[in-house]
Amino acid sequence: MYVCICNSVTDRDIAEAVGSGARTLAQLEESLGVGTRCGRCRDTASDCLHRFQSTTATGLAFQAAS
Ligand code: FES
Repeated sequence: MYVCICNSVTDRDIAEAVGSGARTLAQLEESLGVGTRCGRCRDTASDCLHRFQSTTATGLAFQAAS
C-alpha cells in the first residue's frame, strides 16, 4: 500500500529500508523522501517503521509487505 503519496513510497519500500538498516523516521526521510512534502504520512510511516523493526529479526517484515 502507498504510505506517502507525494513521494510514491509504499510499505514495502519502508520494509526494505528497515531491512537495510533504517532505524529512525529521519533515516526514512533521507533515503526514501517519505514525509518531506506535505507531511501527512509521517504518523503512518512511523507506525510502519516500528512494525517492521519489531519483525525484521525474524524476516517477517518482507513477508508482511509482499
Ligand atoms: S503524503 Fe508523504 S509527504 Fe505528502
